Amino acid sequence: MLEPVESIKKLRAAVAAARGSGRRVSFVPTMGALHEGHTRLIERCRAEAGLVVVSIFVNPTQFGPNEDLTRYPRTLLEDLRKCEAAGADLVFVPTEAAIYPRGRSATFVEVPGLSHVLEGASRPDHFRGVATVVLALFEIVRPDLAVFGQKDYQQQLLIRRMIEDLHVPVELVVVPTVREPDGLAMSSRNRYLDPAQRKAAAVLFRALRHARDSVADGERDANRVRQILDRTISLELSVKLDYAEVADANSLESLVVIEPECRAVALVAAWVGSTRLIDNLILTE
Ligand code: PAJ
Repeated sequence: MLEPVESIKKLRAAVAAARGSGRRVSFVPTMGALHEGHTRLIERCRAEAGLVVVSIFVNPTQFGPNEDLTRYPRTLLEDLRKCEAAGADLVFVPTEAAIYPRGRSATFVEVPGLSHVLEGASRPDHFRGVATVVLALFEIVRPDLAVFGQKDYQQQLLIRRMIEDLHVPVELVVVPTVREPDGLAMSSRNRYLDPAQRKAAAVLFRALRHARDSVADGERDANRVRQILDRTISLELSVKLDYAEVADANSLESLVVIEPECRAVALVAAWVGSTRLIDNLILTE
């Protein structure tokens, strides 16, 4: 079984040794409670010849004061097994003190344009926490390649923007969302759902598919597509919509008209009981 690496020094030594023998380094940051969505990212790294590093760190600074930081699932042994099976070479499991030597409110990274809409509107400091920890992890691992999931659409856009703006020498790869057979996007938070909620949660993907179908059938009015999302989700009484948005896929600006040359994405967030789920689908493919 893979031994988790706790120390930044040891991690850096292992990465340096791999580099010394001419290997590339690829990296998947996670918060653990791994599922097939995560292992697909690790397998994508494994497809490269180099060293595959996975981090598991439940980052406190991206959780709001009333969010699920303390109950976030922690399943380290199982995670290590999954990492190994998916082809990871090294699993970095730092302590909070290692990542934040000066506490949670030291230097931070802010990506203004993308941080305060959608997820950022509902979770004010969330993306500042994400950008800060991802840049810190990039500085520790110094990967050539980093792999993220489309599942967190706004997150991968924000990381891309940060990489460009700060000239971080890493190639970003985004892997399509891995779904359950009924379409529900895999998520560590799905394990909070009871069987009835789990069944109801599939409405999010049904709504996204209806939206995409309507665009394929020629719908160009973004408000009507939003209504399709709204109405479909409202049919499940136990699912409470937070937002349903139709936006430009690169800037996340809200769309009025889906022009033929435009790449549009539908993004939804909803509460199922006390669990908040997000999903998205490109509408113009
Ligand atoms: P976490 O939610 O653990 O997700 C880690 C990575 O797995 C992210 O890139 C996410 O988009 C991807 N992922 C999750 N579910 C997926 C699915 N169903 N299909 C494809 N990819 C999926 O995202 C985070 O952690 C954190 O914000 C992190 C980037 C680690 C910073 O703390």
